[in-house]
Formats: sequence, C-alpha cells, structure tokens
Amino acid sequence: MCGIIGIISQSNVSIRLLEGLKRLEYRGYDSAGIATITDGGIDRRRAEGKLEKLIDVVNDHPLEGHIGIGHTRWATHGGVTKSNAHPMANETVAVVHNGIIENFASLKENLIKRGAVFTSDTDTEVVMHIVTFHMQEGLTPFKAVQKALSQIKGAFALAFLFKNHDNMLIAARRGSPLVLGMTESELFIGSDAIALASWVKTLCYLEEGDIATLTLNDTTPEIIISDADGEIVQRPLRQTNITVDAISKGAFTHYMLKEIFEQPLTISDTLQSLISIEDESFHSPLLALNKPFSKIRIIACGTSYYAGMVAKYWFEKLAHIHVDVEIASEFRYRTPVFDGQTLNLFITQSGETIDTMAALTLVKQNNETCLSIVNVSESSIARASDFVIHTMAGPEIGVASTKAFTAQLVVLAAICLKFAKERCTISETEWTQYFQSFAKLPGCISELLRNDGIYHQLATHLCQVHHALYLGRGVNFPIALEGALKLKEISYIHAEGYPAGELKHGPIALIDPKMPVIVLAPHDEWFEKTLSNVQEVLARGAKVIIFSDEKGTKQIIEQTKTMKCLEIVTLPESNILTAPILFTLPIQLLAYYTAHMKGTDVDQPRNLAKSVTVE
Ligand code: F6R
Repeated sequence: MCGIIGIISQSNVSIRLLEGLKRLEYRGYDSAGIATITDGGIDRRRAEGKLEKLIDVVNDHPLEGHIGIGHTRWATHGGVTKSNAHPMANETVAVVHNGIIENFASLKENLIKRGAVFTSDTDTEVVMHIVTFHMQEGLTPFKAVQKALSQIKGAFALAFLFKNHDNMLIAARRGSPLVLGMTESELFIGSDAIALASWVKTLCYLEEGDIATLTLNDTTPEIIISDADGEIVQRPLRQTNITVDAISKGAFTHYMLKEIFEQPLTISDTLQSLISIEDESFHSPLLALNKPFSKIRIIACGTSYYAGMVAKYWFEKLAHIHVDVEIASEFRYRTPVFDGQTLNLFITQSGETIDTMAALTLVKQNNETCLSIVNVSESSIARASDFVIHTMAGPEIGVASTKAFTAQLVVLAAICLKFAKERCTISETEWTQYFQSFAKLPGCISELLRNDGIYHQLATHLCQVHHALYLGRGVNFPIALEGALKLKEISYIHAEGYPAGELKHGPIALIDPKMPVIVLAPHDEWFEKTLSNVQEVLARGAKVIIFSDEKGTKQIIEQTKTMKCLEIVTLPESNILTAPILFTLPIQLLAYYTAHMKGTDVDQPRNLAKSVTVE
C-alpha cells in the first residue's frame, strides 16, 4: 500500500524523491506527492493519479531543496484527490503516512474546536495539526512528534519535515515498517528496502514504537533512535542484497511476465536452500523445525491462503497430520480454541499483511508455536515468528503474486517431506521419487515456458469473455481458485474457481456456450472423476480448455471425441507434490496474456496493493 521516501543530502533531492517513489509504485497507489525545504520554508508538489502526473508537475514547477519527503498514497480516508494526497503540510510541518489513525475522528473534532482548519479528508492531517500545536506550545520537533504519537491510535509509519530545519527528518514506526539508510554523506528513509536500492547497502529497520531523528550536520550524517519508552537505542545494521537489476523489468513488458519467467530459478533457489537433492537430506532452516506438535493450523490471505490449501492435501496425505487452513481476517476475529499443541504456520509474501500479523499476535498471546514462510526477510511477520523459512523468490514487484506463490509451495512441499520422513508415513521408494521429481521440476517449468505461444493463443479467446470458470480436484482445486483470482485481479474478467465435484451443486447452472471452463486435470487419482465433470460441461455447450499431461491427454481425446474440447494443453508429467506447482504456470500465463490483450495495467491493477497493511 502507500509508500514513503525521505532524503537528506547536500544536493537537490526532488529528482531522487521521484525516483524512490517510482520504485515504490509496485505497492499500489492512486496519488503521489513530495515536499522539500526551500529557503527555510516547506514547499510541496502533489498530483492525483499515476506518478507521471507528479513528474509533469515537478517539471513544470521545479522543487528546490536538499531535504525532502515523498509519498505514494493508496486511499483509505478520503477519495482520490490532489487535496488528499500526501505530504500533508502547513507552514510548520509536512508529514507522510502509511497506515491508519484509528482515533482520527475524535482527534479531529477536538482539533477543530481548537481552531484547526482541515484542508483534506485524510486521517493523516490530524497528525500534522497535533504536531503543529505542540510545536506552538514550545516543544522541539522531536518532543512534539513524541507527544503526538502518545495521542494517536492505530498502525502507522510516519516521516516528518519541519520549517527552518533543513538538515533534519523524523521517522516513526508503529505497525507499518520503516527502514533507514545511511551513506558517508546522506540519509534516507524508506517504507521498504526496495525504495532505497542503488543508494545504500547498509540498512537499519525501525522497531515497534521507535522514533528516529536523522540529521546531516555539515557532511556528517547521524541517526538517533528512541524506543517506545523514550530510551536511546541501537538497532542492528543489515546489508541489503537488493540490486537495481533485481527490481528492473529487463527486456520484459511487465514485471509480472518477468516474474513468471524467473520461476525455474526461484524454484530451484528455494529448493536448494532447503534440501540437498544429491544426498536426499534437509538443510538447517528445516532441521530447526524440531518442536513437537499434534496438528497444524495454516493462516494466510489471498494467494498465500491458496498455497496453504494445497499444503493441507499434502500434509494430510503424505505425513498424516491434521491441518486446518484459516483465512487470517476471519481467524483473528473468531474465538479459536488453543490447545498449546498446535504448530501455527503463517504464509505471507510481504510479511506485512495486517490480518496475518494480527492472527500471529493472537496465536502468540495464546502461547502456541509460530512458523512463518515469508519472502521479505526483514518483515514484521518474519521478526515476530518463532521459526522462519524464507522463500528465495527475490523481490516480487508485480502486484499479482506469481513466483512468490510457487516458492511458497516449494517450501511447504519440503516441510511436508520432512514431517513424512520423521513420521515414517512414506516409503523409501516414494521418498526417492519425490526428491527426483524435485530435481526435474525447474527443467520442466523451463520447458513449459519455452512453449508459451499456446497461452497467447488461448488468451485471444479469453479476452473476449465476461466470465470464466476454473475447475480442479484434490491438490489442483486450490490452483483452480488461484487461476480464477489471477484472471480477475489483472484482467477484471469475473472468474470463479470450484472443486470439479461441486459443479452439480449449483455452478453448472451458469454453463452455456459463452462460459469458458478451464480444467486442471493431470492424470492423478482424481483424473477419472474430473473427466466425468468435463463431459458434463461439454454436454452443455461450454468451451473447455484442459491442462493435463501425456497420459491424460490421450484419455481425454478418446473420451471426448464427439464433443471436442476447445483446447487440450499437455504439460510435463507430475506427481502430487509437483503438480500444483507445475499447473500454476499455465494459469499465470493465461491470466497475463489475457490482461495484456485487454490492455489493463497488469503490474498495478486498479484498487489493488502489493502489501495490504490496512484491514
Ligand atoms: C494475489 C495476491 C494477494 C496476496 C495477499 C496476501 O495475487 O498477491 O492475494 O497473496 O494479499 O499477501 P501476503 O502474501 O503478502 O501476505
């Protein structure tokens, strides 16, 4: 969601503020702005819509200044307008804000009574007025911010700029992440490390309740951090390995396409970080998982939740472990029963999803073990968990998750094998077969990607429809859900995923010649049943696209001779562990090419944000 950038330098910062905001675009936003100090006073430029509009404004009315803050806003309180765009500023202070001020309504009422004049509908503006009042009472900028933070409730990250302070920024974190960067002569604030890539290698992540004062005295940068109790603290310095290459599109038209094509590598990297294929053994992140438990509870949102659904099939079948899969936003507000014996597994690409974080807090309060699978290593969820396993997907910039999802599946498959081995629930022969199939997986995916012309061709049909149905059974049912989600979020075509066996219980009423039905049907234990469901939809005139393997394709051709499918796409052979990973690729490519043909904003689909930090 919203993005924050801040820079103190000895040269003009406005171009670099815009560059930082450009790198934060992937988080999702609908307006943007920057503010600097010029001749001691606060000056700002803001624009509704894409960053290009703000760049035009800055080109027409350049902004001077060696110190500044910038923001990409994803609207929560107040519509998408220039007046609601951050920075919120008056003569005294400018502020940018990620998150939500929960008690803003009562604060606003009091501020208006004290004479504050509001120029926006945002919750952020209350922070600006409170800090201003405290500074008028004679407090220093730091004390004014500290006092203001004691009055506001919610989850947020804030960066402040003050009149007559052209060498100092203040940053504060409660709930939403903030990272600081320092070079020999410059200081930076970012809502994530990606914002600061190319400028700094050493980062410092603020912790809950921290307030940081960043000062550049002549050429000497200094950061002072006080914790929630007001004590001066040192936070560890971390090296970032995010390179500008890793966050550029390269030769691809979109980040999403680049990320789909990166999967042979990201899957291989993730596998190698967890298992040794040669000697069929596990590496330390998996070996560390040694706490006894009686069942598993998987908690996640969106695509990550679907990864959890796949894992339920795996853990139950191969390791004989009872698994519940929970949507974080529901779990956190239910009254779950904690038995102290449950391993809670959180799956999250960003590691910042607010509902998943709240669910983790609830679990910790009830003294159960928390294991998280995250892609962003310094994220809040990673830091709050008892055990963490990192997916090696690298930065995922496209809003629609692709390579992070398959990397999550790889981690879950490896965990499943570990538990199955410990519980002796799979034979030595199966064990070796699974390892060998893992070894072949990146190659199979490369082969599939080399033949991506077929997805392009299928997209010419799909981009003309208004609705689509995805069907799968067993481990491929969650992939049908993921296929429908991918299509709807980037192409805006309404799509639903169903377990094929549920069709007769309602959705079959939707079938007519205008309804494409996309079926995921490897020749597995569920194949025959799925094929019967295909016959049922073909008989009702649906246009059916089936993804299967060689054995399945033969049987489908034989059995659907009279009612031909629109297309049968033959994928490499798979097993229960590799099929959901392999069958994810076609649904990603189909969604991508369909959206691309429709001309939608594939990487930043409307209304969506990469990291969902509000409820
Ligand atoms: C869909 C998508 C979302 C995320 C969800 C959870 O393509 O990306 O559904 O999966 O918002 O996000 P994380 O995994 O960051 O917790």
